[in-house]
Amino acid sequence: MDFVDVVAKRRMARSFTDEPVAPEAIERIMDIARRGPSAGYSQGVEFVVVTEEATRAEIAKPFAAMHQKSGHPNFVGQAPVHIVICANAEIYKSRYKEPDKMRVRKDISDDDLWRIPYWYTDAGCAMMLILLATVNEGLAAGFVGGGIGRLRRLLDIPEDDTPIGIALIGHEAPDARQYGDVSADKRQRRPLADVVHRERW
Ligand SMILES: Cc1cc2nc3c(=O)[nH]c(=O)nc-3n(C[C@H](O)[C@H](O)[C@H](O)COP(=O)(O)O)c2cc1C
Repeated sequence: MDFVDVVAKRRMARSFTDEPVAPEAIERIMDIARRGPSAGYSQGVEFVVVTEEATRAEIAKPFAAMHQKSGHPNFVGQAPVHIVICANAEIYKSRYKEPDKMRVRKDISDDDLWRIPYWYTDAGCAMMLILLATVNEGLAAGFVGGGIGRLRRLLDIPEDDTPIGIALIGHEAPDARQYGDVSADKRQRRPLADVVHRERW
């Protein structure tokens, strides 16, 4: 699919059919997910791919009530594939202590260096690659944040890794767009002139 079409087609899906996703499609999506940029080429973003029904149901539990209130179906529970995106701060901190990095950052304190935690920037890049790769497969993707401690316990995610949220992959339900009464759906994309400052702010 043309890149511009993939970007235009990507919208957060909030209703999925129960049709499974081919394992080869998941592999292709994950192969693209690992190709994002990473600060210092640290590559501290890892993923847990969950397809087992019982685990997905457990992951979806806290979202069910929330979605009922927002007028959406329990789309976390519906999605046949959950990809939990995890960021590992320690990998970055130790990478930036290597000699090549120390040479250029010797006057920068750890506090200053990590004011913008690169691991979350990189996890966001990986998330976007998953969403776009999914659309490129002719599938639909969503994303939900939250539930760090719960995801860690359920999926045995190590202490050093922080789950930033769950990318949901599946086939979009034909009636999906009827769930347009949610606050986020009523908002308009801000015009280019509002968000792009030319030469200075
Ligand atoms: C970090 C992040 C967290 C999000 N969390 C949720 C969520 O918990 N539930 C949800 O329905 N959508 C969630 N979204 C989706 C946004 O609501 C959505 O991207 C936004 O409304 C713009 O719509 P679009 O992505 O379809 O263009 C999240 C998006 C991001 C980037």
